[in-house]
Amino acid sequence: GSDWDNPMPEDGFIMIAHRGASAYEPENTLPSFELAEKLDADYIELDVHLTKDGELIVMHDDEVDRTTESMGKIKDYTLRELKELDANEEEGEIVAVTGRDKDAYEIPILSEVFDEMADDIHYVIELKDTEQYVGIEKKIIDLMKEYELISENSNGYPRAIIHSFDKEALKEVHRLNPAIPLLQLISFDEDEEAKIPKKELKDMLSYASGVGVSYEAITPSFVNKMHKEGLVVHAYTVDDAEAALRLKAMGVNGIHTNEPDLLDE
Ligand code: G3P
Ligand code: CA
Repeated sequence: GSDWDNPMPEDGFIMIAHRGASAYEPENTLPSFELAEKLDADYIELDVHLTKDGELIVMHDDEVDRTTESMGKIKDYTLRELKELDANEEEGEIVAVTGRDKDAYEIPILSEVFDEMADDIHYVIELKDTEQYVGIEKKIIDLMKEYELISENSNGYPRAIIHSFDKEALKEVHRLNPAIPLLQLISFDEDEEAKIPKKELKDMLSYASGVGVSYEAITPSFVNKMHKEGLVVHAYTVDDAEAALRLKAMGVNGIHTNEPDLLDE
């Protein structure tokens, strides 16, 4: 785990706005994050890549095809070129332009998100496709330091967590700064029950504070097992209120959701 042992309350339950309030606003844009904040999400989840000129940019895919009017890999675009695009498309259709000018949907850089959001907002930052972005781990850590995100709030929750499917990227972050709480993302097939082989679990315990798991696979015994090891469990991506309550009752510590108001009355 991280240097704080364990940095996340094991009996807590948090709502994590997956790519912002992405059911209502274009994913990974400032309007999506601002709405998540307004809807009282506990954490905002976002995905990070590097531009051709080495800027940290917030987008899910490693190419601009699905969410903008253009095509090609992020790493082949400069920041200035990316800023010309509108990030409010979904496969060629304009999505959820809630009366806003399309210029409101720029692709944000990570520091812009940190600048725009309230000081008490929390982040789950996903490292994606790191093999094509040399040095991305250090850049993110430096920015987290600059914005004092390597710290906890008064509830004992960390200001920022990093998660990734990429074990090596997480290990690199841990090597560079062991104080950052890390979650290992793991995907299971829909009809599969979550299970982590002993050897893998042992390895995971050397760097991770928890796991983020596709929610259909989560069972009460899996949650208990993880908690016994001191690992928290997050579930992704839950847009069904009944499933969310079921997971909460199992002791799951947080859910990623595109609808941060999912459990509001
Ligand atoms: O919420 C977990 C999730 O972020 C991992 O999947 O594809 O939405 O980044 P994805
Ligand atoms: Ca993600």
